[in-house]
Amino acid sequence: MEASARTGAQSGAQKSALGANAQWGGRFAGGPAQIMSDINASIGFDKRMWRQDIQGSLAHAAMLADIGVLSGDDECAIAQGLGAIGAEIAAGDFVFETALEDIHMNIEARLTERIGDAGRRLHTARSRNDQVACDFKLWVREAIDGLSGQITTLMGALADRAAEHAADPMPGFTHLQTAQPVTFGHHLLAYVEMLARDRGRLEDCRRRLNECPLGAAALAGTSFPIDRHGTAAALGFDRPTANSLDSVSDRDFALEFLAAAAICATHLSRFAEEIVIWCSAPFRFIRLSDAFTTGSSIMPQKRNPDAAELVRAKTGRIAGALVSLLTVMKGLPLAYGKDMQEDKEPVFETADTLALCLAATEGMVRDLMPELGRMEAAAGQGFATATDLADWLVRTLKLPFRQAHHVTGRLVALAEARDVDLAALDLGAMQSIEPGITEDVYSVLTVAASVASRTSHGGTAPANVAREAARWQARLADAPDAATEVAA
Ligand code: ARG
Repeated sequence: MEASARTGAQSGAQKSALGANAQWGGRFAGGPAQIMSDINASIGFDKRMWRQDIQGSLAHAAMLADIGVLSGDDECAIAQGLGAIGAEIAAGDFVFETALEDIHMNIEARLTERIGDAGRRLHTARSRNDQVACDFKLWVREAIDGLSGQITTLMGALADRAAEHAADPMPGFTHLQTAQPVTFGHHLLAYVEMLARDRGRLEDCRRRLNECPLGAAALAGTSFPIDRHGTAAALGFDRPTANSLDSVSDRDFALEFLAAAAICATHLSRFAEEIVIWCSAPFRFIRLSDAFTTGSSIMPQKRNPDAAELVRAKTGRIAGALVSLLTVMKGLPLAYGKDMQEDKEPVFETADTLALCLAATEGMVRDLMPELGRMEAAAGQGFATATDLADWLVRTLKLPFRQAHHVTGRLVALAEARDVDLAALDLGAMQSIEPGITEDVYSVLTVAASVASRTSHGGTAPANVAREAARWQARLADAPDAATEVAA
């Protein structure tokens, strides 16, 4: 390794004793100030893209050899050298140099160190601008594939629990006030639908990002007769990007990824919030085992749903990452600006955080033990079947719905004054408000009758829920990847 590549222990504003950068220092007499090197270097985080960088360089070198710009011998040396560097990095033997700024120059410098001039020829018809865009797209594409798979697994866990509890009632809420009874399975399947859309958004992002920027060079394209379709195909892209300026300026794919991840994290956060509520003593709808709770160091009775709380909180990082990159990009003139180096950390952090949150949520879904008796009892409280009563008045007495709503309101007020449920009002009391009411009304006032009656498409009737849970289980088992919901 050239001495110029080594960082010394200089203080902040002091001029580096190092020489000019070997990759771009031709017109520079001295090296950067230490602080310049510190703010400029991205190797601390972009080394995560080493596989993608090698992959891109291999495709580029093979293409340069195909068009006769590189000799077969040079290409061979480059391929072998990059393979050896990959092995060094994988083994933890590679020394990453801050003075070499980023992963691209670290690998290229090491290649040249290993194979000499052939290494210096690799950067023909290429710039770090198209190189970084290519590496980063490859990285995001892999992250999407991993996260999609995790979402699928979580959907499967939710569908299994929904099948198990297709008929078990719980209160459905609006405004967190008891609204109408639903089943626990129905509630869980709501999250399956959300996650299906999340996965669709990620896969939509993947489809749109899958154009190869390699060959756009710095910003204007290149005078070499490169084969951009060849490198695109070699790297699994659908086609090369169409405009060289756009190719090096575009970070839409990262923004879309972050936006899709932020929406997914928001869904996980809502579910986490429900888990926290359901675990609380006044609710006690579910319990989490020792595996997903922690204790308090002072209050011996406590069992805290920390995993759920952390999923809820970590959503802030992901939403923040989206805002962070939107803010980086919003004022940038074309084409590349070093600002764009700030694109990676939010994306890496988001991919890591979302993976963790998905895994923790899946763990909680499999772990949670519903307290069915408490859920069912709560489902009957708060006049949860008032709408069923109003519907009965419409159906049986042919009252207009608004009038039925008013009559039911008066019956609720009466029950409330007597501190009893609607079903506990005797017929005489009912008839004092609406003389047409008969004994038959009591048949719709139970929780079981209420949920069973909701047979409309997408409704909470246990038969519907069981069918939907089975449909998801089958889809997820048959073709886990093809089960995505994407707007056509
Ligand atoms: N480390 C840089 C980044 O992540 C690579 C591209 C640098 N390009 C340049 N012209 N300085 O954006």
